[in-house]
Amino acid sequence: MAIFGVPTLEDLGSVAGKNVLVRVDFNVPLKDGVITDDLRIRSALPTLQWLQQQGAARVVACSHLGRPRGKPDPKYTMDPVRAHLAALAPGVELLENLRYDAGEEGNDPAFVASLCEGFDCYVNDAFGASHRAHASIVGPPARGLPSAAGRLLAREIEVLLGLRNHPDRPFVAILGGSKVSDKLGVINALLDVCDQLIIGGAMCFTFFKAQGKGVGSSLLEADQVDTCKELLAKAGDRLVLPEDITALGPGGKLFDPDAGGEVRQAGTSLPEGWMGVDIGPGTAAVYGDIIHEARMVLWNGPMGAFEDARFEAGTRFVAEAVAACRGFTVVGGGDSAAAVAQFGLDDKIDHVSTGGGASLELIEQGDLPGLEALRGAVNA
Ligand code: 3PG
Repeated sequence: MAIFGVPTLEDLGSVAGKNVLVRVDFNVPLKDGVITDDLRIRSALPTLQWLQQQGAARVVACSHLGRPRGKPDPKYTMDPVRAHLAALAPGVELLENLRYDAGEEGNDPAFVASLCEGFDCYVNDAFGASHRAHASIVGPPARGLPSAAGRLLAREIEVLLGLRNHPDRPFVAILGGSKVSDKLGVINALLDVCDQLIIGGAMCFTFFKAQGKGVGSSLLEADQVDTCKELLAKAGDRLVLPEDITALGPGGKLFDPDAGGEVRQAGTSLPEGWMGVDIGPGTAAVYGDIIHEARMVLWNGPMGAFEDARFEAGTRFVAEAVAACRGFTVVGGGDSAAAVAQFGLDDKIDHVSTGGGASLELIEQGDLPGLEALRGAVNA
């Protein structure tokens, strides 16, 4: 049954004996050739296994990995991913990195034609890449292959569009990360629907500047100060900013405790030379109270530089508050998903999205190129 107009696996009809091309997002983090987080691979298994159980003749997955910029580069080979997939889903094939060919990002019709050759139908289960109008995302349905969203993509649409269009209230959104400019669209979209929008991460300093506060040496986007003033005026007290900050003093370096530099709790006006790197304990407590009362929570972006143990407390506190919340909780992909995994809380979150940019864009726009393409499929 279609979801938000997008055909799902059952809309393909019988796949028995058919060759199925499945676009997945196996753009996973690797360190020295070893996968450090396989969430995206595990999340695609229900679709891949369903196709096998339905008797598909061949199930062939394809993905990009990193940004090799249109030519083969051994640094971005799918080999480690293929080995892991073979253990998790024996019998599923995996093509080499789609971005080895410039036709992928260019959505070149000749590349689409070669990709589709020999396949009877197409499944998009690559939520994390569905905001890219690339060949493997939009090409096969446009070329006439019967197409559908896989289980993962369908679940992401259901959760994220459900939350955007019909949130349970109070609906609390928590946004962190370093740059306001990256999140402007989503801040505006969320301000239209959420009851409270909590801000953390270095982007709070651009808001502080807009309020006339001293930000010391904290990260600042000077060209966004006026925009932040407008957002503050639009949001009123629905936009919640930190009340205290954990700051690193002159001489200190992030991720390098041996470099020295004092760490202290500060208010919200930082003196010259001091860099704000996490929300303070008072703020964490206030944010925890707001999250506790929420019936729906969306969290995207860490509260501070949590990869440095000196500055993980704010992000950890918020992660624990989200995990303990009785409402429906959603964590956007990317850094905040990494944070809940690092703190061992991922199984206490109702939905951890596999898409970073894609989840933000879906909430902002209410649609994605990959979904639009599926809606136009012959079988839709
Ligand atoms: C992601 O990791 O966000 C997706 O795989 C998309 O990757 P991209 O930003 O390189 O298109």
